[in-house]
Formats: sequence, C-alpha cells, structure tokens
Amino acid sequence: MDSTELNCLYDFSGRTVVITGGTGVLGSEIACALVGCGANVAILARRLAPAEEIIKMMGARGGQAAAVSADVLDPDSLQKAAEKVREKFGRVDCLLNAAGGNRPEATTRADLRFFDLAPEALRQVFDLNLMGTILPSQVFGKMMAEKDEGVILNLSSMAADRPLTRVAAYSAAKAAVDNFTRWLAVHVAQEYSPRIRVNAVAPGFFLTRQNRFLLTDESTGNLTARGESIIKHTPMARFGQPEDLFGAVLWLLSPASAFVTGVVVPVDGGFSAFSGV
Ligand SMILES: NC(=O)c1ccc[n+]([C@@H]2O[C@H](COP(=O)([O-])OP(=O)(O)OC[C@H]3O[C@@H](n4cnc5c(N)ncnc54)[C@H](OP(=O)(O)O)[C@@H]3O)[C@@H](O)[C@H]2O)c1
Repeated sequence: MDSTELNCLYDFSGRTVVITGGTGVLGSEIACALVGCGANVAILARRLAPAEEIIKMMGARGGQAAAVSADVLDPDSLQKAAEKVREKFGRVDCLLNAAGGNRPEATTRADLRFFDLAPEALRQVFDLNLMGTILPSQVFGKMMAEKDEGVILNLSSMAADRPLTRVAAYSAAKAAVDNFTRWLAVHVAQEYSPRIRVNAVAPGFFLTRQNRFLLTDESTGNLTARGESIIKHTPMARFGQPEDLFGAVLWLLSPASAFVTGVVVPVDGGFSAFSGV
C-alpha cells in the first residue's frame, strides 16, 4: 500500500455519517471534520436551528451536511430521521452516537446526598447515555444489516472503567455503553455481517457544557479543586480539545480499522494509564 492508497482510506467522499448529538461541543466539531473529509453528514438534533447554524458555519468543505430532527430516546422520531437521511443521501455508512451527558441533579454534592438524588434525574442521565446509544443503533444498524456493512462508533468516557466520584448515573451508564459496544460488535459480526463494526472512543476530560459546572468556578472561570485534580492526574497536563478526537474517530469510522471491532479507545492524555504515583 503506498501513501496515496493510505490517504484514500480517510477519504469519506460518497459515504454518509449520521451523528447524534451533532450540535454538542464534541459532535459538532467531529461533524465539521467529517464533512471536510468529504463525508455527507446528517446532524441529528432535537432542535433544528442550532444544527442549521453549525452547517452554515461549516461553509463549503467537501461533503454535504443536513440537519435532521430526532430525539435519541424516541424510536418513532429516529425512524423518521432514518427515512429523511435515506431520502437525502440514499444510504447510511456510519453512525456516531455522540448524544449524551451528565446533569447536576444526578451528581452528588455537599448539599445533595446520594440518598436524595431524584430517581427521574438518575433515570434521565442513564437513559440518555445508554438507551440514547442503543435506540439509534437499532434503527441505523438495521440499515447497515440490510447492506451487509457499516460502522457504529459510540462515545464512552473515562467514567466507564473507573467510576468518577460524585457522578453516579453517568458512570454506570457509560460502563454499560462499553459493555453494549462489545456485545453489539460480536452480535452484528456473527448474525449479520463481519463487515459491520462497532467500537467506542473514550474521551478523557474535555471542558464542555456537560462538565463545566464541575471543573470551573461559574463566577471566576478558575479551575475548581476537582478541575485541578484532573489536570494533576492527566500526564499531558491539560484538558482535551475536540480536535484531539479526530484521529481516533476518523480511524475507527474508516476502512483503516477494517479488522477492529469491539474496542474502546481512550483519548485521554494518559489519564487511564496513570496510577497517580
Ligand atoms: N466533554 C467531555 O469531557 C466528555 C468526556 C467523555 C465523554 N463525553 C461524551 O461525549 C459525548 C458528547 O459530549 P459533549 O461534551 O459534546 O456534550 P454536549 O456538548 O453537552 O452535547 C450533548 C449533545 O447531546 C444532545 N442530546 C441531549 N439529549 C438528547 C436527546 N434526548 N436526543 C437527541 N440529542 C440529545 C444535545 O442536544 P440538545 O442541544 O438538543 O440538548 C447535544 O447535541 C457525550 O456522550 C458525552 O458523555 C464527553
């Protein structure tokens, strides 16, 4: 294989990627990168206006992007979204499950004990991260099964392997996402096609709206003690930037990883390798 052939692996021209959470901090940047690599990207969002705004900001980049309405917890809306994507782009090659996140109401703090966390807040976080990954995988995975190929890529977290203090439902849900990633990888390869792959990327700490309330002081913008502790436990001594994810995401979505399925790849500045000593 020469360098032209190797570069072609990352040419997404003519391929369609569906991104849930495509209006989020990480999802929107990945959407832009994929369009830049020639992909047609369907940005699934509950509200279309922010998705359309992101598409406007992308400008002309190679592939095309479309905003498609869907709630990852509503199977009917996902089904309608799948039909819209088929109408617009004709096919689905990849699904990136980037909808997810945590909520302050499902996070313990000095004045909110574990015993008092509201069941609906816990359930909402658990559902968003786990069911919000499973339901789109059913709808878009079925389209992949019909054509015997495709890639599903989930966004996991450092919280999956070693649960993060205070973050109860989110840690449990992301652990379940890792488990589901492995389960689905085996299931689709054995039952449908070895050319359907399922993997996950586990980002380390990226400063985004889901964790800003934990890592920075709202009034001063300075790091909280927790934010400082994370930096101390990250050998590269910084938070991640969305573009730090591009290499792993493009690799796992592309034929460059054709023999890789059922893995969770950390992109964490060394956080998961560090014992703290
Ligand atoms: N940021 C980090 O440090 C970090 C670290 C590890 C893992 N992750 C994971 O990476 C993924 C993206 O994180 P992020 O930081 O980009 O989060 P974010 O900026 O908070 O974006 C979350 C996205 O999920 C969407 N969403 C929420 N509920 C939804 C629903 N019911 N149906 C459809 N979409 C829904 C949001 O859309 P709306 O605008 O409609 O709410 C938004 O687009 C998440 O799974 C997160 O857990 C993030």
